[in-house]
Amino acid sequence: MVSIATVLDSNSGITRLYGSGLVGVFVGGTSGIGESTARAFIRNTNASRAYLVGRDQARAMNMIEEMRQINPDSQISFIKSDVTLLREVDDACRVIQQKEDKVNILFLSPGTGTMKGRDETDEGLDRKLNLHYYSRMRFVTNFLPQLIKAGEQSGPCLSRVISVLEAGGEAALHLDDLSLQTHYSLRNCAKHAITMASVSMEHLAASYPHISFVHSFPGVVRTRLDRDFGTATKYAVAALMVLARPWEIALDESGERHLYAATSPRFPPRIYKDGVSGAAEGSDGVPGSGFYRLSSTGDTYKSNKIMGLYRADGTRSLIWKHTLDVFAKVRGAQEMNPAID
Ligand SMILES: NC(=O)c1ccc[n+]([C@@H]2O[C@H](COP(=O)([O-])OP(=O)(O)OC[C@H]3O[C@@H](n4cnc5c(N)ncnc54)[C@H](OP(=O)(O)O)[C@@H]3O)[C@@H](O)[C@H]2O)c1
Repeated sequence: MVSIATVLDSNSGITRLYGSGLVGVFVGGTSGIGESTARAFIRNTNASRAYLVGRDQARAMNMIEEMRQINPDSQISFIKSDVTLLREVDDACRVIQQKEDKVNILFLSPGTGTMKGRDETDEGLDRKLNLHYYSRMRFVTNFLPQLIKAGEQSGPCLSRVISVLEAGGEAALHLDDLSLQTHYSLRNCAKHAITMASVSMEHLAASYPHISFVHSFPGVVRTRLDRDFGTATKYAVAALMVLARPWEIALDESGERHLYAATSPRFPPRIYKDGVSGAAEGSDGVPGSGFYRLSSTGDTYKSNKIMGLYRADGTRSLIWKHTLDVFAKVRGAQEMNPAID
């Protein structure tokens, strides 16, 4: 377990390590874990720029007002976007790309606790699977040039993608129906989002050696994730939260822990620009893979049977190819980022 003292100590040294002017994009930064991580980012950095992507403008404006008071040197912007739609993801990225040529931290935590069944957007994808997987990967592919630029600066540099879902929960997939057109259930939706995220991030870490990738399980954190629940489910979840109290992680602590995941040199890319290997420690049983699966206490999961199998038998590449095929089908090949491998 990584102690909170270690986390806070590391976070207080971010500017010393990486300098001022870091750029963070927080998709799902208007509430919960994304919000608390964005607040920790502003508290612990100098002259940084943060972009909060979400739908709730009023909430975002209040947050921005408060965050500016915490650190008047920082610049915080709200980008209104419904990221269940890939076209809105593309629009949001374009707005940020007009202002930034590098992105140091891409923090992905848009989510919903909805218990609805398959709920298709006009792009033909399920909303929940999109929020938890496809949209997040679309942000990654769109921002590859900016992440690569951040990772290729000389000296200690930071280029990292963090996705908050449920690392450690990877399981076998319906490989003939990855987007769950016919095998939809809430359990399958969770399993596919979690596993495809880990597999794809591991694949991307192999393809883009200067960017590191972290998939985190936050543990039990009291947020607004229950806002789409009906009254009965809300009561049931509230009762479960009482039982789970001994394991609960306070929202502020979760933000600091996720800022640590986003900045600690414990999670280096495969290779630094100067050619030095980033393999400070083995991750996922693959030394120096540049991909890390984190538990709620900041420990790394070292191996997973299904991930090992998908890595060895080529399924990992097929899952990434499926993801690019979905992007091409929904957005057209001309909208694809030429940097994508
Ligand atoms: N909290 C936990 O205990 C826990 C445990 C395990 C996993 N997780 C995972 O962690 C992630 C973050 O959850 P959280 O607890 O921080 O939840 P939260 O407080 O509900 O925050 C979710 C964020 O997602 C954004 N979002 C939702 N739908 C969106 C949409 N259509 N377009 C754009 N943004 C959207 C929300 O912004 P707007 O409202 O502004 O749209 C909000 O900023 C989720 O994927 C969740 O499954 C959480």
